[in-house]
Amino acid sequence: MDAADMGNDLAEVLISEQQLNDKLDEMAADIDRDYRGKEVLLVGVLNGAVMVMADLSRRLHTHCTMDWMAVSSYGSGTKSSGVVRILKDLSADVMGKHVLIVEDIIDSGLTLSWLIKNLASREPASLRVATMLRKPDAAKAHVEVAYCGFDIPNKFVVGYGLDYAGKYRNLPFIGTLAPHVYRS
Ligand code: XMP
Ligand code: MG
Repeated sequence: MDAADMGNDLAEVLISEQQLNDKLDEMAADIDRDYRGKEVLLVGVLNGAVMVMADLSRRLHTHCTMDWMAVSSYGSGTKSSGVVRILKDLSADVMGKHVLIVEDIIDSGLTLSWLIKNLASREPASLRVATMLRKPDAAKAHVEVAYCGFDIPNKFVVGYGLDYAGKYRNLPFIGTLAPHVYRS
C-alpha cells in the first residue's frame, strides 16, 4: 500500500519510508555495537511491532531469537490506563537471556512500564527497550528507552504497523489521517 492507495484519507506523511529505513540502519548498528558477542532475544509486542521487528531483525548481525507478546491495556477510549492483561504470553522462558523489547510506539508509556516490570520479574540477564516512535507524554512514565527511532508530536499516527480501526498497518511510512476518516 502507498500514498496513492490512500486517496484523500491521508492528511500528511510524517516520516517517509526512506527516513524509516535510514533510522533502522542506525538502530541496528547501535544494537550490534551494544550486544557484541552476545545473543539477544527480541520480544515483539503484537500487533504493532511486527514491521519494526521484521525490518530491524534483518539488519542485525547479532545472533537473535524472537518471541512475541500480546497485551491489552484497559482504559477509556484511546487512553491506556496501565492496567494490563496478557492476551498472549511468551512461548519460552527468558531467565538468563538478554531481552530487547521491540515496540512500534510509546505513548503514555503505561503499557511498557507494566511490561518491563513483568519481564524483569522473570530474571532476564538484561532488559532493554527499542521503539520506532515515542510521543511526548512518554516522558512522564520514566521508562528508559535504549533505542528510539523518532520523537513525534502528540498526533494519532498510522502506518508501519500502526492502525486505525485495524487498517493502514501496511503503509510503508508513518502518516496522519484526514479528519473525515474518523467521522465515517
Ligand atoms: P501507552 O500505554 O504507551 O500505549 O499509552 C501505547 C499503545 O497505544 C497505541 N497507540 C497508538 N496507535 N497510533 C496508533 O495506531 C497512535 O498514534 C498511537 N498512540 C498510541 C499503540 O497500540 C501503542 O502500543
Ligand atoms: Mg504497541
